[in-house]
Amino acid sequence: MRERTGVKTLVNNDRKIRGAVLASGNGSNAENIVSFCQKHAETIEIPVIICDQPKAGIISKAEKLGVPCSVIPVMRVDNDTALSARAIQEKKVLDVLSSYNIDWIFLAGYMRIISVDFLSRFADQVLKINRVVNIHPSLLPAFPGKDSYQRAYDAKVKESGVTLHFVDAGVDTGSIIAQKKFTRIPDESFEDFKARGLALEYEVYREFLEQLSKGRINAAGN
Ligand code: GRF
Repeated sequence: MRERTGVKTLVNNDRKIRGAVLASGNGSNAENIVSFCQKHAETIEIPVIICDQPKAGIISKAEKLGVPCSVIPVMRVDNDTALSARAIQEKKVLDVLSSYNIDWIFLAGYMRIISVDFLSRFADQVLKINRVVNIHPSLLPAFPGKDSYQRAYDAKVKESGVTLHFVDAGVDTGSIIAQKKFTRIPDESFEDFKARGLALEYEVYREFLEQLSKGRINAAGN
């Protein structure tokens, strides 16, 4: 079992925290994050959302929330390698982040692996973490990767949950900030199982943002 973070550390909060949300899909977590920050606008703000999927639900949600959404897909051209197409996309994302002076990244169903170079731009030498946070729909280290609710449901787990963690170079391997569990109800549908997990995702992200906006963070630097 991975070491759990647990040390309350003061974030330098001389200025308002400026976060960006990165999302690829429906965007319910992104909406939750932005709504929270809009209610706490004196300490934390989300000036931009970035999406890599041109048809994602988050794009219309961002419009309703009044937050600019930069849509930056991976564009493969002839003679291009998949690797360079991904690097070009990431460079464009970094340019947008830097134009908005972003210092925290909140991943919310962003279905891309973040490169080491990208992470290094958000490395916090004091906290010894990358200022990149992700929500994962399982009790890590169980069910890392894709379709985690489905895999946990199919495995008939008695208990599942969600994990908020800092992002490192691995897939869902970064140090854990917080986890929340739910017990599986016998015979419940997959949709109900997932809906209960999603409600916990929103809760755990809001609790983290509340602490962060007060200058506190769980970061043991493991
Ligand atoms: C969430 O379950 C998240 O944990 C996972 O993808 C889903 C995204 O949902 N990585 P939404 O787009 O936030 O509604």
